[in-house]
Amino acid sequence: MKKLGVAVVGTGFWGRNHARVYRELESTELVAICDVDAEKAKKVADQFCVKAYTSSSRMLKNEAIDAVSICTWSTSLAREALKALEAGKHVLVEKPMATNTKQAQRLLEIAKEKGLHLTVGFLMRFIPGMQHIREAVEKGSIGELVCATAKRVSQWPERIGDVGVVKDTAIHDIDVVRYIFNGDPASVYAKAGNMRHKKFEDYAQIMLTYKDGKSAFIESNWLTPYKTRTLTVTGSDAIMRLDYITQELWIEAAKENLQPKYPWQEPLKLELQHFADCITKKEKPIVTGTDGLKALRIAEAALRSSVRNKAIKLS
Ligand SMILES: NC(=O)c1ccc[n+]([C@@H]2O[C@H](COP(=O)([O-])OP(=O)(O)OC[C@H]3O[C@@H](n4cnc5c(N)ncnc54)[C@H](O)[C@@H]3O)[C@@H](O)[C@H]2O)c1
Repeated sequence: MKKLGVAVVGTGFWGRNHARVYRELESTELVAICDVDAEKAKKVADQFCVKAYTSSSRMLKNEAIDAVSICTWSTSLAREALKALEAGKHVLVEKPMATNTKQAQRLLEIAKEKGLHLTVGFLMRFIPGMQHIREAVEKGSIGELVCATAKRVSQWPERIGDVGVVKDTAIHDIDVVRYIFNGDPASVYAKAGNMRHKKFEDYAQIMLTYKDGKSAFIESNWLTPYKTRTLTVTGSDAIMRLDYITQELWIEAAKENLQPKYPWQEPLKLELQHFADCITKKEKPIVTGTDGLKALRIAEAALRSSVRNKAIKLS
């Protein structure tokens, strides 16, 4: 079977990983990479023996490219994704997808108009234990869902300078909450601020509430000297805890504690394999463009809530 021709735009820390994984997957062929930094582009292209471009417009003329990963700085994501969609390529755009919901909406429209796949890099959905959590909630095996708590804290990643911790980091957990709760929160209340970062917020506490009383609390910052990425989901009969880093999952109930074993797998590999499979089999991806837009809308509302010091209604 013909391999899916793929390319990566933006080959910094994360784009290099996309390029590596596309080289490792059997169903994809890395055709080219593009970075505005010519030296970086050449280095990565040489590493993977593909053609280097510094202009995505020129690269997108290459007909061997069916799909593109957009891994640029957050503020260039929407522009580059739009170019790729306009050139007729399927797109995986990294989170936060766009700088604002207007840009994200435009991406959805053009993808629909052209019949192309548009998905967003919400990697947490591909952590092996996540499916277990989602199914347990759906089947009611932890009783009735009550609340969830997510913690994503670490030191400031120096390379990120164009968005704050809400759109860069907490957006993962906003998406996870939407995914597990299988719906959108009715309101958001947040407190965010900046202690070390000059321009953007580097800490945020976000509370999402649902119409039926369920709630989720997201703690996110770039101020903690160690890295923690965890999710706790509380049901009326049991609690599930997932460590995103070790991928360990615990289920604690009154009578017994379980630790379902899932072999560690690279989430990015699962994500990109899924992206390629969905294109080839013409199937809807687990993460849609609408998921990206909705998460971004909640992130924007969280920032507004913090400024106004009041809860913002979402629906
Ligand atoms: N899903 C995840 O878990 C995850 C993890 C890390 C990063 N990311 C996302 O990936 C993106 C990149 O992050 P990073 O850490 O690799 O940043 P980075 O600064 O290391 O790399 C960004 C690269 O994009 C290049 N670039 C910028 N604008 C460009 C353009 N218009 N065309 C071509 N190249 C361009 C820069 O020269 C740089 O090499 C960000 O949007 C980030 O949010 C997602």
